[in-house]
Amino acid sequence: MNNSLVTKYNVPGPRYTSYPTVPYWGSLEDFNVDLWKQNVLKTFEATNSSEGISLYIQLPYCEHLCHYCGCNKKITTQHSVEAPYVKRVLKEWDLYCDFLPAKPIIRELHFGGGTPTFFSAENLELLICGILKRAGINNRSEFSFKAHPTSTNKEKLETLFNLGFKRLSLGVQDFSPEVQRVINRYQTVDEVQEVVENARNIGYKSINFDLIFGLPKQTKASIEDTIEKTIELRPDRIAYYSYAHVPWVSKAQRLYSEKDLPSNDEKRNLYELGKAMLEDANFIEIGMDHFALPSDDLTKSVQDKSLHRNFMGYTTAHTQLMIGLGVSSISDSWTAFAQNVKTIKEYERLIDANELPVFKGHFLTKEDQVIRKHILNLMCHFETEWCDTESNLLHFDAILEKLHEMENDGLCYIEHNKLVVTEKGQKFVRNICMAFDLRLQRKQPDQQLFSSTI
Ligand SMILES: C[S@@+](CC[C@H](N)C(=O)[O-])C[C@H]1O[C@@H](n2cnc3c(N)ncnc32)[C@H](O)[C@@H]1O
Repeated sequence: MNNSLVTKYNVPGPRYTSYPTVPYWGSLEDFNVDLWKQNVLKTFEATNSSEGISLYIQLPYCEHLCHYCGCNKKITTQHSVEAPYVKRVLKEWDLYCDFLPAKPIIRELHFGGGTPTFFSAENLELLICGILKRAGINNRSEFSFKAHPTSTNKEKLETLFNLGFKRLSLGVQDFSPEVQRVINRYQTVDEVQEVVENARNIGYKSINFDLIFGLPKQTKASIEDTIEKTIELRPDRIAYYSYAHVPWVSKAQRLYSEKDLPSNDEKRNLYELGKAMLEDANFIEIGMDHFALPSDDLTKSVQDKSLHRNFMGYTTAHTQLMIGLGVSSISDSWTAFAQNVKTIKEYERLIDANELPVFKGHFLTKEDQVIRKHILNLMCHFETEWCDTESNLLHFDAILEKLHEMENDGLCYIEHNKLVVTEKGQKFVRNICMAFDLRLQRKQPDQQLFSSTI
């Protein structure tokens, strides 16, 4: 591969789990909870009976601080926090259900973290039963959860399976003892294997592994070993994330030396090595940084073009309304976004005052909606097409100018009103999306917001 292109295009850029990206949402003063509720209501009335809704529930606690982690979490070993948190999430759900005119029909439900498996089987059951008391279930529903291998025992797997969960996503990150030591994240191959075997025996239909390339102390040999072990365990899906080094947000990332991080070119080579090994083992690359077996629904959704991307990453179950419950969760009504407050204290205060804990958001303009469509097309299918009305609205000449440079570098080609990302360009898809990101172009950030694109 041409490493000079990596140097040229490795700039800070969004991962586009939303458009507009969170830093470009409207100001705090422009956010209005009543308007947010109206947006939710409108989309709910238009879509609940046909496609249903998605629910994302943030379970923020972790017992240990993993030094690489860029997610919103709260570290504690006090499990007494579980029950009051579950109670408040259920109250938040009530606050939504109280203004919706019918029972929400759940198409997709995901427990994210933090570490959902920090919670006991009993509390997870209370949570899901409380949610389902006020909801129906779509006949193609998908329930999934993030799991830490060392806290995912058979009892939790069985409880969640009996409650409708058929997918789980295991945080593996890396199998090398040296890398695990530096990132303060420990799990052995045997522990991961045990969870995988238990889950398979119970009947889970899809297991995902989260792996990261670009971590401190990772080398070609260590990645080779991690991927080899992964292939042996044969998860159905793999998220092979690019390590996001954001020490200005995640202070624990300052606990290791930047000298231990692979260089840009080395990092990209680690991805290429993993990709080659996974493809040799019959995994198929999906969108950006994801792989799946041919039998998995994610692969099928690429073939029938139903693959979608949202705050949870890639998904096969797209609904226009996604309600996020719990501290820092993000909701999407397709016409607007809203985020919950980020500290547990503030979350508790608002819920106890019977208020939706949303504090900021964004109401999408017509222009935002058109750009979102193109960015989604690119992130999911590596191509997009526009009509004349759209090109007038977006002042396409400026976008095309940026794209032409990438076309000259062999990253994409443009034919009439269609852009296709070449195989060589797929690793630069974030950069190609940035050409469409008019909000980013109008106002370059005055401080570093995003991790590097490659
Ligand atoms: C929300 S975290 C929750 C993971 C969960 N606590 C666990 O123990 O595995 C979800 C995933 O984000 C990814 N992640 C977290 N920090 C990251 C970073 N700095 N760069 C890239 N990926 C990261 C990890 O792969 C992780 O499994």
